[in-house]
Amino acid sequence: MNKKQEKRSLRSQKSYGKKDKDGFIHRSWMKNQGLPQHVFDGRPVIGICNTWSELTPCNTHLRDLADSVKKGVWEAGGLPLEFPAMSLGETQMRPTAMLFRNLLSMDVEESIRGNPIDGVVLLGGCDKTTPGQLMGAASVNLPTLVISSGPMLNGKHKGKDIGSGTDVWKFSEAVRAGQMSAQDFFAAEEGMSRSPGTCMTMGTASTVACLVEALGLSLPYNGTLPAVDARRKTLCHLSGMRIVEMVHQDQKLSHFLTRESFENAIACLAIIGGSTNAILHLLAIAGRVGCDLNIDDFDRLTQNIPLLVNTMPSGKYLMEDFHYAGGLPAALSQISKHLHLNTPTVSGQKLGQQIQDAQIFNSEVIATFEKPIKKDSGLRVLYGNLCPKGAIIKPNAASEALLQHRGKAYVFENIEELKQSINDPKLPVDKNTILVLKGCGPIGYPGMPEVGNMPIPKVLAEQGIKDMVRISDARMSGTAFGTVVLHISPESSAGGPLGVVETGDEILLDVSQRKLELLVDDDEIQKRLEKRGQKNYKSYDRGYYSLYQKTVLQAHEGADLDFLRGNSSSEVERESH
Ligand code: FES
Repeated sequence: MNKKQEKRSLRSQKSYGKKDKDGFIHRSWMKNQGLPQHVFDGRPVIGICNTWSELTPCNTHLRDLADSVKKGVWEAGGLPLEFPAMSLGETQMRPTAMLFRNLLSMDVEESIRGNPIDGVVLLGGCDKTTPGQLMGAASVNLPTLVISSGPMLNGKHKGKDIGSGTDVWKFSEAVRAGQMSAQDFFAAEEGMSRSPGTCMTMGTASTVACLVEALGLSLPYNGTLPAVDARRKTLCHLSGMRIVEMVHQDQKLSHFLTRESFENAIACLAIIGGSTNAILHLLAIAGRVGCDLNIDDFDRLTQNIPLLVNTMPSGKYLMEDFHYAGGLPAALSQISKHLHLNTPTVSGQKLGQQIQDAQIFNSEVIATFEKPIKKDSGLRVLYGNLCPKGAIIKPNAASEALLQHRGKAYVFENIEELKQSINDPKLPVDKNTILVLKGCGPIGYPGMPEVGNMPIPKVLAEQGIKDMVRISDARMSGTAFGTVVLHISPESSAGGPLGVVETGDEILLDVSQRKLELLVDDDEIQKRLEKRGQKNYKSYDRGYYSLYQKTVLQAHEGADLDFLRGNSSSEVERESH
């Protein structure tokens, strides 16, 4: 800390530095924790925003990690103060954790702004927690550093590695096809989740943790270090030290969240074969900082970027293997010519410096640019009369042969109808049928659940069919796979043409041409749209559900609430008493 920095009065001093009744009140109640007077002397106050919860299994170790962050903050001369934020357990919350991502962001935003803190460490990890935390923090814009939960240890079953989510979908389809016994299925349940941490496949949590690293918002290896590896505690300790320095240097979140860093994150998304959910999250975070990112950037910027990281669901290995093979810096170093190397990171180094010496220790897990796992990776954005504002497909997780396909639709009007009939032995479908699911967008469900990877109808699963084209306005778990068109916008419950597809209509999917077309006359589509009208979903008239349905943006804009875009700075004008 230089002299100039020492003189700058910190935000927290507006509360703790006062020599009057207000100062008495702000300090005195904090002293009930045993804090001595001298810790209110103008040192940086660091909030540790923690989504710890026993209802979010991926976050159960975060109190431990917070202790390591605190040690680093104390060592660097700061005052650490941990506070809770709403926790969103992907596997526990109904109707879907995504419904509450924006609510968490409001909780985080107002907790940061309302409290006397100078910098914040976001400690979280399940799919929606880090995005929600970042959205909220971006709307305040203090110095901010992210630490992720870290992935669980590899799952184990019958001597083999099994992956969170990915193998659940595989095993459950095998049971439905009569290829796996129920007993074996439940035996696998015992070995899948063996430690604290997030899903150890390249699901949404691991994807977001890697993107956070590529954005420059975490120290290196945040994306891959296993949750229970002692080195994650070391990373926490060092992060605690860094955030204090970042406060002294006044390095706010907007310093790191730039057009260039978002472009780095999108390139990273391609090489790791990351989750389609990342599109929604990056768009929503960009919307908070006024960065003009749009859905087409994800297609354009991932062309000619190869798949380099061989992790499920696009590949074979798991996050532990990825870390031991060199972690994200080694993978990023392979595409350095596609990155903005001058973007700053919270480590104090530029991204280029951070990755320049990284090495690959196992090229089966992290491939080189010259010998990639797949030449073309990334996500494709489709347009057509079925999705005027766009739809998404992840070719890595799809069957090559189905990427160009014409077939007749079989329509499920809602998720209940799908669940009722998917196992019907007389369901009139064949392998060329295109399954269509409506009513699963942000407004209609509400919350846009991860049901886009519909199960293969039992009648076809028993014939050994493993994939077919499925289209919907839903999302898909980052751990899932299949030829699945997602995020159709506008959704069927917002007047989108998806809502008027009928069983028997022909649909054309052509990924190379970025096309998704309903092969029905325009006049007929128009007639059906007029007949259907807008109100074809259950609407709520109180509470958060009501606020959400009235204000949520469509998928192509990141599904944030419309009034939350942008930011309101960290200023609070009035005292509390
Ligand atoms: Fe939390 Fe997968 S369920 S990370």
